[in-house]
Amino acid sequence: MKHPYKLLIVVGLLMLTALIFSACTAPPPPPAAGEGEAASSEAAAPAEASTELNVLCTPQVEWCEGMKAEFEKSHPDITVNFVRMSSGESLTRLRNEKDNPQFDIWWGGPIDSFIAAGQEGLLEAYDSPNMANIKNPDLMLDPDKQWAGVYVGSLGFATNKNWLDEHPGVEPPRSWDDLLKPEFKGQLMVAHPSSSGTSYTALCTILQVKGEEEGWKFLKDYAGQVLQFTKSGSAPGRFVGQGEAAVGVVFSHDIVKNIEDGMPLVLTFPEEGTGYEIGGMGIIKGAAHPDAAQKWFDWALEPSTQELGPKYGAYQAPTVNGAEPFMPELLEVNLIDYDFDWCGTHKKEFVDRFTNEIATAENLKQ
Ligand code: G6P
Repeated sequence: MKHPYKLLIVVGLLMLTALIFSACTAPPPPPAAGEGEAASSEAAAPAEASTELNVLCTPQVEWCEGMKAEFEKSHPDITVNFVRMSSGESLTRLRNEKDNPQFDIWWGGPIDSFIAAGQEGLLEAYDSPNMANIKNPDLMLDPDKQWAGVYVGSLGFATNKNWLDEHPGVEPPRSWDDLLKPEFKGQLMVAHPSSSGTSYTALCTILQVKGEEEGWKFLKDYAGQVLQFTKSGSAPGRFVGQGEAAVGVVFSHDIVKNIEDGMPLVLTFPEEGTGYEIGGMGIIKGAAHPDAAQKWFDWALEPSTQELGPKYGAYQAPTVNGAEPFMPELLEVNLIDYDFDWCGTHKKEFVDRFTNEIATAENLKQ
């Protein structure tokens, strides 16, 4: 080698350049005393982890309260604020707040509304590691990861026992057609499908059991039997339990809860097939606290979380492996192959048709 130090000079120059470059891109200095203290215990957490979470909660209020308390117990740095709102009302609220969302996550209520919300760009996709826990991802997980299923429940009929005693010979309904019997005229109570996901599940079940054309004719007669439409899906169970009407169409787990609360109700199912819900959950697009929303999302898909329901009077079945249903018999009935995509995609159209052609959504009973 003729000029051995030429190589040394080149290497030296390269090292100097690297040194200068690394000095230019050096990490920012550590925060001054007092800054970023909240995050100091968790090196990986963002400097400003959210300390608040706003939940739009659709199931019964007792369960929402229980979930708030349980989440705060396992995430002591986060305070949960929730508002309980029926599915249809929630969807309307999210549409109206699209440019300035007030909620971070929507938890509960049939996925038909989550499918509609996802199609309208109201939800933020999130790839939770706990989605791997889901029992039946084809059915219970949005392929675009905008929502995930958190519980399952079947529709049933609640009939007041005292009313049956006062009407000897009348049997509780065991088919959709039974609801049209003359003895139930003005004795039926259901929620309105514009506000309630329960009632929309019933509407879309009827359209699938009977076919669209027959289904719409049936819905007209069915609405003609109704004493009063309610706003919330579970309310008819309570009103029928109090003797205000004879029969209600409600999710079976809510009827079980009413019975447990001492209401004189008989639970039956339409034997030709009943609809069911997958309760959903999704993060709101533009949420102010997306990190806290992701924590709730992950937590809600843990088996231990999904087994909390019965503690708060919620007997829906879990959607994740490792969590056992408390009342498996509620799903061991003749369930139709409910087409969630079809019902979700047509939700607005079907609700508008019902409201415009069959029964307005005015003066709904609370
Ligand atoms: C009740 C049921 C839930 C259901 C929800 C929908 O709370 O227990 O399982 O998801 O209703 O509420 P909505 O008022 O929209 O029918």
